[in-house]
Amino acid sequence: MKNGFLILDFGSQVTMLIARRLRELGYYSEIKPYTESLESILKFNPAGIILSGGPNSVYDSNSPKRNVKELLEIAPVLGICYGMQLLAEQLGGQVEPAKNREYGLKEISWMESVNDSIPAKHNVWMSHGDVVTAVPKDSKIFCKTADHISGIKSEKYWAFQFHPEVAHTNYGKEILNAFCVFAGAKADWNPKTTKKYCEELILNTVGANDHVLCALSGGVDSSVVATLLTKTLGADRVHCVFLDNGLLRLNEFENVLSQYKNFGLNVIGLNAENEFLTALYGISDPEQKRKAIGRTFIEVFDSTIQNKLSAVKDKIKFLAQGTLYPDVIESVSSVGGSVTIKSHHNVGGLPAKMNLKLVEPVRHLFKDEVRSLGLELGLPPEMIGRHPFPGPGLAIRIIGAVTKDKLQILKKADDVYISNLRSHNLYNQIWQAFCVLLPVQTVGVMGDGRTYESVLALRAVTSSDGMTADWFDFDSKFLRHVSNEITNQVKGINRIVYDVTSKPPATIEWE
Ligand code: XMP
Repeated sequence: MKNGFLILDFGSQVTMLIARRLRELGYYSEIKPYTESLESILKFNPAGIILSGGPNSVYDSNSPKRNVKELLEIAPVLGICYGMQLLAEQLGGQVEPAKNREYGLKEISWMESVNDSIPAKHNVWMSHGDVVTAVPKDSKIFCKTADHISGIKSEKYWAFQFHPEVAHTNYGKEILNAFCVFAGAKADWNPKTTKKYCEELILNTVGANDHVLCALSGGVDSSVVATLLTKTLGADRVHCVFLDNGLLRLNEFENVLSQYKNFGLNVIGLNAENEFLTALYGISDPEQKRKAIGRTFIEVFDSTIQNKLSAVKDKIKFLAQGTLYPDVIESVSSVGGSVTIKSHHNVGGLPAKMNLKLVEPVRHLFKDEVRSLGLELGLPPEMIGRHPFPGPGLAIRIIGAVTKDKLQILKKADDVYISNLRSHNLYNQIWQAFCVLLPVQTVGVMGDGRTYESVLALRAVTSSDGMTADWFDFDSKFLRHVSNEITNQVKGINRIVYDVTSKPPATIEWE
C-alpha cells in the first residue's frame, strides 16, 4: 500500500506547513531530513516525494544536496523553491542568481491549465534570490511571472519557485491537491484511518502482557491518549493517574475526574495540593517554579505507583505520553534546535526515574488531528474544545510567589472570566484565555472606603498552534461587563487590565 507523501526538509521555515496542508487535503504525510536513507524512503513506500524549500543556493559549496534521480525512480516528485532548483540543476537545467529577486506576492500565468478550479493568472508568495533560467530536457515551463520561470513539469515531477503551502498563495491548496492527483495518491487520511493508525502504533509498541501508566492532566492530548490506549488494550492494562496539584481551575479536578470515570478509564484521582504548595513555597522565579512542580510531580507519581498500584507495578513497562508531531519534527529538523524560552517538559524525568519505556500514540498527529480523533473516540465536544492549559497550571499565572490565598483569588476571577466567555459565545473563537494575578497593589475606592488591592490582567489570544498568537479584539462592552463582575465578586482585586500584546514579542503566558 502506498503510504502518503514523504517531505524531505532542506531547511525551510515553512516545511511543517506542507505536511499540514497535505493532511488537511486528506493525504498522510511525514517530514524527514533531506539526508534520510534511501532504504528508509523505500520502506515508507511514498505515493509522492516533496523536496522543501531552504535558505541555501544550490551553488553554495555547503548547500544540502541529494541525488534527485534516484528519488524520481521511487515516486513522482514535487520540488518547492530550493527543491525546484535542485531538480533543475541535477537534471540538466540552469539555475542563476536572479536579476530581479522575487519576494512577497507576485502574479503568475499558467502556460498550461492545472485544472478548472485554478485560474490562468493569480498571485503566489515568493521568497527567492536564485531562478531557473533553462529547463531540463524532457520538461517544460508550467508557469511564469513577468520576469522569471516559476514552475516546470515533466512526466515524473512538478516544481514551483513559489510556496503553494503558505496561506498567502492564492489557490495554493488546489495546486498541492492537483499534484497529489498527478501522483495518483488516494485521499484516505481521516479520523477513522487516523484512529486505526494510532491503534496499530500502540499494538506494535506495547507487548501483549505489558501494562501502561498514563498521567492525565485534564487537557485534550492526555485525555485522547488515555482513551485510545484504554480502547486498544483494555482498562485493566491502562492505569491512569490524575493528580490535583492545587493549581487547576475552580472545581476542575472534581469535574474532570468524574468525566474520566464516565468514559470507563481506570483512573486514580489523588489530592496532592499540600505537596505542591510546599514545594513552591517562597519561589518567584518562573523556571524555578516549573522545576519544583516537575520534581514534585515525579515524587508524588512515584509514591502513588508504590502505594496504590503495587499489585501490578511489575507489569507496568510503559509510560504514555501525549507528544505531538510538531515536537517530533523539531527533533528531526535539518535546521537544528532552537533556544529554550520556557522548559515545558513537566514529566520529562519520569521514564528514567521509573525505568519505563515510552509509548506516544499521537506522535504523528497535529493538534487539530488529535481533536478530531477525540471526537471519533466519543469524547465530549466540551472536553475536546477546551483551551490549552499549561502543565504548571495557575502557578505561572501568579506572578511572584504562589500562596493558597492568591490561588483562591485567581481561581474565582478566572471562573468569572471563562464563564462569561462561554455565556457570550466567545469561548470557541478564542484559542486560549486566562487571568494573571499581578504582584502589584493599587489604590481604589469601594463604597466610601479606600481599598489597596491586587491588579488582575485578562489575556485572550487567537492562534493556530501557540507558536505565534494575536490578542483577541473584544467588544469593549464585554470587557466592561467582566471587569465589573470580577471587581464586585472577587475580594482582593480592585483593578483589571487587558493584555494587548501579540506573540512575538510577548509569549502567551506571562511566565
Ligand atoms: P508560551 O507562553 O510559551 O505558551 O507562548 C505556548 C503554549 O504553551 C503553554 N505553556 C506550557 N505548557 N508546560 C506546558 O505544558 C509549560 O511549562 C508551559 N508554558 C507555557 C501555554 O499555555 C501556551 O498554550
